[in-house]
Amino acid sequence: MCILSNNAIQILEERYLLKSKDGCAIETPQALFKRVAKFVSSNEEKNSFYETQFYKLLSSLKFLPNSPTLMNAGCKNGQLSACFVLPVKDNLESIFTTLKNTVLIHQSGGGTGFNFSKLRPKDDLVTSTNGTSSGPIGFMKIYDAATEQIKQGGKRRGANMGILNVDHPDIIDFIRSKSSKKTLENFNISVGITDAFMNAVIHNLDWQLVNPRTKKVDRTVSAKAIWELIIKEAWLSGDPGLIFLDTINISNPTPRAGTISCTNPCGEVPLLDYESCNLGSINLSKILKFHNDIYIIDWKTLSKTIHLSIRFLDNIISVNHYLIPEIKAITIENRKIGLGVMGWAELLILLEIPYASEDAIQLAKKLMSFIKKESYKASENLSIERGAFTNWKDSLHYSHQKLRNATCNSIAPTGTISVIANTSYSIEPLFALAYNRVGILGGKTQTEINAIFLQKMKAINLWSEEVESEVIKTGSIQHIASISKSIKSIFQTSLDIPWYYHLKHQKAFQNHTDNAVSKTINLPETATIQEVSDIYMTAWNLSLKGITIYRYGSKDHQVLQKCSLN
Ligand code: CDP
Repeated sequence: MCILSNNAIQILEERYLLKSKDGCAIETPQALFKRVAKFVSSNEEKNSFYETQFYKLLSSLKFLPNSPTLMNAGCKNGQLSACFVLPVKDNLESIFTTLKNTVLIHQSGGGTGFNFSKLRPKDDLVTSTNGTSSGPIGFMKIYDAATEQIKQGGKRRGANMGILNVDHPDIIDFIRSKSSKKTLENFNISVGITDAFMNAVIHNLDWQLVNPRTKKVDRTVSAKAIWELIIKEAWLSGDPGLIFLDTINISNPTPRAGTISCTNPCGEVPLLDYESCNLGSINLSKILKFHNDIYIIDWKTLSKTIHLSIRFLDNIISVNHYLIPEIKAITIENRKIGLGVMGWAELLILLEIPYASEDAIQLAKKLMSFIKKESYKASENLSIERGAFTNWKDSLHYSHQKLRNATCNSIAPTGTISVIANTSYSIEPLFALAYNRVGILGGKTQTEINAIFLQKMKAINLWSEEVESEVIKTGSIQHIASISKSIKSIFQTSLDIPWYYHLKHQKAFQNHTDNAVSKTINLPETATIQEVSDIYMTAWNLSLKGITIYRYGSKDHQVLQKCSLN
């Protein structure tokens, strides 16, 4: 079993280890990994063999599944998935049934995405009461209030994605809906963008807003004016992001089962109504080996880790507890899973490759294409052993390959599991070399210096009191005159890295990810409105499935803060 960091132990004790009625932990981290390995291997014929394999996989921190699996496997509440999309139809029955299901999902640790575009606009006619409608934003506020009270069983904040398509009559209010920092705090919001809209923006054309109830044009606006409003609001508050519906649907693996109009909360899994998905991430900082005094990627270990992780995620679909029959039905038909990565920035540091470099982009492509290829091989092997997913004959995969799973890969944010694995988040660069981490549910604030940075600086004899105090003060080494340019380039942090390199990494990983990539384009406070426009436009041009930016300091509460702010 790998030694856990203090942060990992603290998070596990606060939120993951089983507790007695009086709140004391009644299992050790080792017992947690045993509990998960045992439950996830319970559908295997050779279950004790796989229990041992899964235990080794988890306890070595080479792979971790999404939080609900760690929290709930083998427990009374055996809901193991992180990602759900639920339908919202234009009637109160549907709106409040989905709200009830949302609450149940949040209570079990899952997150929910909704596309509200089917709802009639605010002040539209309601025949049954002869009154007027509240509109999508009014109902989103109700969902938000319910989320606030549930807080995922007291363990973490509930997460929601709210989408409104760009041709909905309430789109302007939606774009502005998070202007005031206190509204919709439990929602990420994204505008559902079509290629037709982007062409209208580029050619400065009119754009029609259509009432979803009557299907009639409500009014005509300037596409460019909508674009400019989106950009201004995103610059101000980070919301809204964009999701590119046409791009997503080109790679929808099961078009006959429906069109995709929504993603899970952080954007890494486009899903059909009622679909759920299990995520897991490989810790890239653990797949290196030391050879002739330098680190190299251990492709053999990586391949073994991928095959076992895909089997682990596929097992979850079989042993999962489904909260409602609709979710069970479509999840089992498509068996979507999302294997991704964490620790990408640390891998680059250990290999001494700057994040903002073409070498990093080339390696991202090589690595993710390997992960995709091996994931598909693993899913194919499972299809031979266990059968293909039910919709396979009707899927885009039918002419290429027999698969057990309609999708295999997603790049999740790994907001908590990377802390447990003691590595950098997802494919993000280091946020800072030292930072204060604010407790998610109001816990203690902790100052941390990145361990790999510290180890490297000591190894090359560059660690000194001067460096330490600068890093604690600013989170960066970019202004220390005595440090060479090449060392500085390896330790560039999120805000030092030009936005186009953030996008290039997203693109490199997206190219070999059948679901999507959750990535935040972190920008310094000084970033301009024009830059945000350029980023959003480039994201569409690069055929990304979605885009999110965050300008430093533009939200009241941010989980990671540079030390200098405190
Ligand atoms: O690291 P962890 O497994 O906890 O989660 P993540 O990779 O940060 O997020 C993966 C997915 O979990 C998100 O896209 C959401 O669907 C869900 N999630 C949630 O429901 N509530 C949260 N507070 C965070 C994530």
